[in-house]
Amino acid sequence: MIAIACDHAAIALKNQIIAHLKGRGEALTDCGGFSDKSVDYPDFALKAALLVAKGECTRGILICGTGIGMSIAANKVRGIRCAHCTDEISAAMARQHNNANMIALGARITAHDTALRMVDIFLNTPFSDEPRHAKRVRKIMDIEENRG
Ligand code: RB5
Repeated sequence: MIAIACDHAAIALKNQIIAHLKGRGEALTDCGGFSDKSVDYPDFALKAALLVAKGECTRGILICGTGIGMSIAANKVRGIRCAHCTDEISAAMARQHNNANMIALGARITAHDTALRMVDIFLNTPFSDEPRHAKRVRKIMDIEENRG
């Protein structure tokens, strides 16, 4: 199950991604938003991030104008590694090196056909089996566990 959320800046791209995911046969939970009326992106990032953090969804896709606000918000949720990506190489590395469980895309930044390819890369790419990457991701999660 994939969680997806957007704000008012990214309704069109979210709908394209949803159609793309359905074409792939993916099950998804649409956490909104549902119109181009101005909303606050943290509300929607949080809904999707909690689904991923609780294990109800295996991956999450966030889309706002730049992807930046959504990624910052999602990364405040324990267990979330949300990668803000604007290109295919970053989407691949986010999985291979960072074991990202969410990706944040910028509907006003990245061409929409590129964004669809990034979604495929994000969903298809496994985490590297090189131990150094697991060690580094563990260190990231240790920061989360040990901070005040
Ligand atoms: C909305 O205007 C915009 O700030 C939002 O979509 C996003 O780009 C925030 O990071």
